Amino acid sequence: MGVVIAIDGPAAAGKGTLSRQIAETYGFHHLDTGLTYRATAKALLDAGLPLDDEAVAEKMAREVELAGLDRDILSAHAIGEAASKIAVMPKVRRALVEAQQAFSEKAPGTVLDGRDIGTVVCPDATVKLYVTASADVRAKRRYDEIIAKGGEASYDDIFADVKKRDERDMGRADSPLKPADDAHLLDTSKMGIEAAFQAAKSFIDVAL
Ligand code: C5P
Repeated sequence: MGVVIAIDGPAAAGKGTLSRQIAETYGFHHLDTGLTYRATAKALLDAGLPLDDEAVAEKMAREVELAGLDRDILSAHAIGEAASKIAVMPKVRRALVEAQQAFSEKAPGTVLDGRDIGTVVCPDATVKLYVTASADVRAKRRYDEIIAKGGEASYDDIFADVKKRDERDMGRADSPLKPADDAHLLDTSKMGIEAAFQAAKSFIDVAL
């Protein structure tokens, strides 16, 4: 195994920004594993297939191409909702985890971010980070992002959505969201994303 940086945490905690910065700094490949769940969900929605048939969803999951996954295309609220529903299915998870594990082997190193990277996908990762922030800070960030892009949003709806997504991610039986025992905890509500990047960099530099 090459160098693997595993980054987990709840929605809107700053994992994406942090992961991209780390991948760029070290010249590593980056996989946002949330996009693999989103791409599977979108394929099911586009084909008009049900979201509650595990065998059908597994088949779609096995067809997802990791190259070219694009958050802009997969960002719709309905896709996120559908992704979090199919993410409770063990067969879907197994299919996507296998693809993610194959990706993690790439040289010279990889950064994978998601919910279960340090616990399930890459339990032997070189460095594990668990990035979190309070639900209201995360909801506020998402709200500001939408407003900055000229969109419309209700903070209360976003807050309720963040809480619901957390409950689904942390409460599922298969691979619930939780920090690995050996993960470094980074709370970005206290330190901000730039400080979190500096802290992450120091953990990585020590391990390399
Ligand atoms: O991170 P993002 O919101 O794009 O992920 C979409 C959904 O995919 C999440 O709500 C989560 O339930 C699921 N997911 C997961 N395991 C991962 C990454 C994402 O269950 N490693």
